[in-house]
Amino acid sequence: MKLVVDTPERIAELAAQQYVDLISAKPNAVLGFATGSTPLDLYAELVRQNRAGAVSFRHVTTFNLDEYLDMGGEQEQSYRYFMNKSLFEHIDIAMERTFLPAGELLENGDPASYDRLIESVGGIDVQLLGIGHNGHIGFNEPGTPFGTLTHVAELAESTVLANARFFDSMDEVPRVAATMGIKSVMNARSIIMVILGSAKAEIAKAALQGPVTEAVPASVLQLHPSVTWYVDHEAAKLL
Ligand code: F6R
Repeated sequence: MKLVVDTPERIAELAAQQYVDLISAKPNAVLGFATGSTPLDLYAELVRQNRAGAVSFRHVTTFNLDEYLDMGGEQEQSYRYFMNKSLFEHIDIAMERTFLPAGELLENGDPASYDRLIESVGGIDVQLLGIGHNGHIGFNEPGTPFGTLTHVAELAESTVLANARFFDSMDEVPRVAATMGIKSVMNARSIIMVILGSAKAEIAKAALQGPVTEAVPASVLQLHPSVTWYVDHEAAKLL
């Protein structure tokens, strides 16, 4: 495990450099991406590096962690829309090699086929993660067994509330989503976890230094052989 405590700006640069290094060594790398506010600076930095010619995404394949069910990619709150607008449309990526779990689910009705698809291209080289205030990763809420693969998950009330900021009314906030499971995440060869802001200080401590428990899904990362935790000064204040 590697812990890097720095400013959000520097974290975006350092994490982006990990992608640049990986892709220059392996142009057809397989990348696991996340949505939410945490990766926005990192995505902006990847766009900058791509435009500057420091990295090309032409041969990569990407898999996102999660997607709301029953939401088309044209809907602004969908994670497909988020990824297109914050990253994919601005880089030289092949859109047909960018995957989110809902589309795959709809095609064949079997969520775990997403894991098989990931496996069929050689597995994820680096999985990016953010953390929920309750310790969730993807939409694996507290209590999710560590052995789960991609599945349909019911969102915790606190997650529904946290997501409400993107919708006009509470009624519109989705209650279910397809998400890679904890095992799907742990199958990645390496993991980048980014934790920003003082509101995440307690959960950062629980995830990094507390017991490994299904009550704090991100604590499972303590068992992974190759995780870089990027924590900003505010989120690291209890470490
Ligand atoms: C997003 C995801 C979530 C977020 C988490 C943190 O794809 O899987 O687990 O990483 O909810 O969200 P933000 O970054 O908005 O604080």
